[in-house]
Amino acid sequence: MASNTQASITTKIQAWLLANLNLVFSILRWVKPIAVYKNAALVTRFDHVQEVLSHDDIFHVTYKEKMEKVTSGENFFLGMQNTPIYTRDVSNMRLAVRRTDLPEIITPFVDNCAEKIMASAQGRIDVPAELSRVVPTRLVGHYFGTPGWDEEEFANAATSMFQYLFYPDDPEVEKTALAAAAKSRDYLDDFIVQRQKNRRQHDDVLERCLQMQDADMPGMSNLDIRNNFIGLIIGAIPTTSKCVVLVLDYLLSHPDLLAQAQQAARADDDALLTQFMQETLRFNSFSPAISRLAAEDYVVGRGSWRATKIPKGTKVIAATQSAMMDCLQLKSPSQFRLDRPDYQYMHFGFGLHTCFGQYINRVQIPHILKAVLKRQGLRRASGPEGQVESVGPFPVHLVLEFDA
Ligand code: HEM
Repeated sequence: MASNTQASITTKIQAWLLANLNLVFSILRWVKPIAVYKNAALVTRFDHVQEVLSHDDIFHVTYKEKMEKVTSGENFFLGMQNTPIYTRDVSNMRLAVRRTDLPEIITPFVDNCAEKIMASAQGRIDVPAELSRVVPTRLVGHYFGTPGWDEEEFANAATSMFQYLFYPDDPEVEKTALAAAAKSRDYLDDFIVQRQKNRRQHDDVLERCLQMQDADMPGMSNLDIRNNFIGLIIGAIPTTSKCVVLVLDYLLSHPDLLAQAQQAARADDDALLTQFMQETLRFNSFSPAISRLAAEDYVVGRGSWRATKIPKGTKVIAATQSAMMDCLQLKSPSQFRLDRPDYQYMHFGFGLHTCFGQYINRVQIPHILKAVLKRQGLRRASGPEGQVESVGPFPVHLVLEFDA
């Protein structure tokens, strides 16, 4: 009985802390910016968060074990330390995923795809179900070259694998994710072989990988290509969809900002829309933190009176959401401002493992948003439909209406 009461109090405290994260972070930044308790540490100031994330030799990524289950054997570069294989794999994929593709392939595709969906929506759209998950899934089909065995199941598979890899352990999630991983592996294995028989028909990421394979480049076997694709697909679909929903949800709750963003959308001011995305996500975060494991004893903030030793073996939570609210780095952090420099945003991580898709994100998210924001009379549907409904960490419904 006593232990039940204790468990329910702990659950209530946890729920309160989660619901009031910004308040908790702001207190910690002043009272205990590097908080170490038992074998866990929480780092909340901008400089300290960047110190942790840039010392990848000390603070290791922890995704290897789960990555190997997803690929059935191999690691993917987000799960690797800074090894020669890490450099090989990232470099190979950077040759295939080129920044020049942004204006040439990605922007026109996203614009076209999002606009077509909005134009046929007849005044009502369920954003995650009909738009924000659909566009990145189709971009993966068109640009990476892998449309999936079924658009919706493919996006669901990527979403469940993401939840398994980056959220706390849950046996149900693991079961669904590993089944999705097996299906994705089979699909990609077959699909790569089909494309080997059907060469030079497309200029997409898969064709470029096969060209590297022709040139006998290390790290470009069918298995290597498949594993790189699994990692990229997981990273690309649920993340983009969630960011679009978070931005729209915040803007809809702030009509003055919504009006400014709509003006930017109608003026095709893409740079301003990107700035809207960055700033909005600071208030409505994709994720509060990035976690690491200390491989050595290390003193964070050395030389300052906040210096704190993090012992080897400590799980370190680098609270990026808190860092982006730190008044020691950002001017008036509680104000919504569109003139902040890009280096103050860490939605896409920091250091060695900074998001591989960061430049795609800066284009894809604002261009999906633009197609929505251009609509006249944009509003939430009435009742619960007009509010975000999530399954696990990902939004599945948010119905908006507009003048058709
Ligand atoms: C749209 C929203 C996105 C968000 C918020 C996001 C967020 C992040 C974050 C925070 C990290 C760092 C993880 C860590 O350090 O532990 C990361 C890494 C990564 N992301 Fe993204 N991501 C997004 C989209 C994408 C897209 C579109 C792709 C693929 C094209 C992608 C592929 C990756 C990969 C491969 C890494 C690992 C990079 C490395 O280890 O060097 N992400 N992402």
